[in-house]
Order: sequence, then C-alpha cells, then structure tokens
Amino acid sequence: MAVTNLQHVGLEVPDIDRALSFYTDAGLERLERGNNGIVRCAGRDQDQVVLVEGPRRKLHHVSFGTTEAGLDDIAKRLRRAGHKLLDAPNETPEPGIWVRDSDGVLVNVKIAEAAPSRGGPEALGNPPDWLVNVPGHYYRQGLRAAPEKDQPAQPRRLGHVLQFTTHIDRKIDFYTRMLGMKLADRVGDFIAFMYLEGGSDHHVVALAKSDAPGLHHASFEMGNIDEIGLNSARMLDKGNRHCWGFGRHVIGSNFFTYFRDPWDGLIEFFSDIDYIPAGYDWQARDWPLDDALYCWGPKMPDDFVTNFEVVN
Ligand SMILES: [Fe+2]
Repeated sequence: MAVTNLQHVGLEVPDIDRALSFYTDAGLERLERGNNGIVRCAGRDQDQVVLVEGPRRKLHHVSFGTTEAGLDDIAKRLRRAGHKLLDAPNETPEPGIWVRDSDGVLVNVKIAEAAPSRGGPEALGNPPDWLVNVPGHYYRQGLRAAPEKDQPAQPRRLGHVLQFTTHIDRKIDFYTRMLGMKLADRVGDFIAFMYLEGGSDHHVVALAKSDAPGLHHASFEMGNIDEIGLNSARMLDKGNRHCWGFGRHVIGSNFFTYFRDPWDGLIEFFSDIDYIPAGYDWQARDWPLDDALYCWGPKMPDDFVTNFEVVN
C-alpha cells in the first residue's frame, strides 16, 4: 500500500508575514496556527503550505496522506529498510510517520484523505462546460467566452511539488519503494516525475538534480487557462515577479506559468495536466533533455532551474 494523496509542503521562511502576503497575492487564503503561517485554497479544508520561521527560505518537509493500513505498511517498509522513524518536529507537530528521505529531507505520512477541491468552471458561477470553438467544430454557440475581468480565479489545490535532489535514482528509490509511488517519466539523471499508484496527475512529486536538496516549486491547479491568465494578471498588478510562461509542458502536458516568491523560489499555476488512472499500464519514457520541458512558450529563463536555496 502506498501514499494516496499529497497533503502539503512545509517551507522555512525568514518572514512569515511576507510569505503570507505573497501567497495571498497568488489567490490563496491565509491563516495562522501557533507560530506557523498556513496557506489554503479557497473553499478547501486542507493545508497546502505550512510556513515555519527560519533563517532562510528552505524546504522543511513534504506531507502525504494515506489510509490506516497504508500507514502500517509504509512504517513496516521503512523500518525493514533501516530508516529511523522520528518524532514530529516541535515546530510542525503533525501526527503520523516522520522520516528523512535519501536527501535528508523530512517526509511526513499521515492518515488523511485529500479534501475535495472545487470542480470545474461552475464552481465559480460559470457555465459547467469548458466549451471551445475549433475549426469545423463550434462547440460554443451563442455564448460569449471571455471571462469577466474581476471574476474569481483562485488556485483549486496543490497538485505537485518539484524538489531538488542530489541523487535522482536514490530519491526515486525512496519514493517508489518506501512510499509506493510510480515513475511517470524521466530525463536521464536530471529530472524525474512520479505519480500515485491509486491514480493521480501525471506527477505529484517531481525531482531535479542539484548540489543540494530544496524546493524548486509548488504547483497549484487552476480551473482552466483563463483562470491562469486572470490570476497572473492580478499577481503582476500587485508587483510580483513573473518568471516563465505562459506555455505548455511536454512531460505532463500541463499549461503553465511561474512566478518568483520573495526569496526567488517558484510557484506554478497549471491546468489540463495528464492524468494516470489506477491500474493503467503507463509507459514511463526517458526523454532527451532538448524535447522534454516545453513544447511552446517563451524561452526558458537561464535561472529557471537554479537552486536558490543554495545560491542565497
Ligand atoms: Fe510543475
């Protein structure tokens, strides 16, 4: 048995208020719990980013949900493989298993389901279907498509986290053998993508090679490309730094755009990612680097894969 969902990412930041203000700009909702800042998606009862005060911005932990039986199984596998099960850190006293992965990054697995996220455009008061007119097939007839400028366009859920790792294969081994995830695709020893065996987005955890562990980006699902556009326009209006996009990834196929946080970390907004159902015979590919990252969009910035947790 395996992890069944991504719960949240824990992030150390030097200024929790500043981080909360950034995530509020990004359309997320803030709350405070003890000394931590908490970020959630509107209408969704699940922490998505847990902010802990620290000297610099740094990945603190990644948290997954599973069933009671899943938790037992995972604990047994970890013990058998010689991993030490730890007490919850004082600053994030969450229940469940705490363990350090192959990079020494804290991983939490607890008994939890994914909270339902708001559905399609109807969740925001729009027509239920994302109707698109294409040559010869005018699926949207007699209806205007352009959204109102001020209509809500907030992230629906945390979809995936991309972590820097010092060793791709060791980290894949931890996530697949210990947590039961599956490899979706990879680019040699540089990048890898993993999904949940019970069915999930093409990637829930992704990895990029670096000199040190870290969080490259946390990625939030939007209802559609209009919501990506509206949310991006609002972030720009508030003075946030756009990094890359709008474009379409090759691996995972998602539409994307990325913004920098105050410490050069990244947040991604995506829509229309590939989905791998439970039991599906998905064929993982090893992609050549040149074809792997995006099929169209602006040129990728040179510092897109810089690990600012090391540089800063
Ligand atoms: Fe992503």
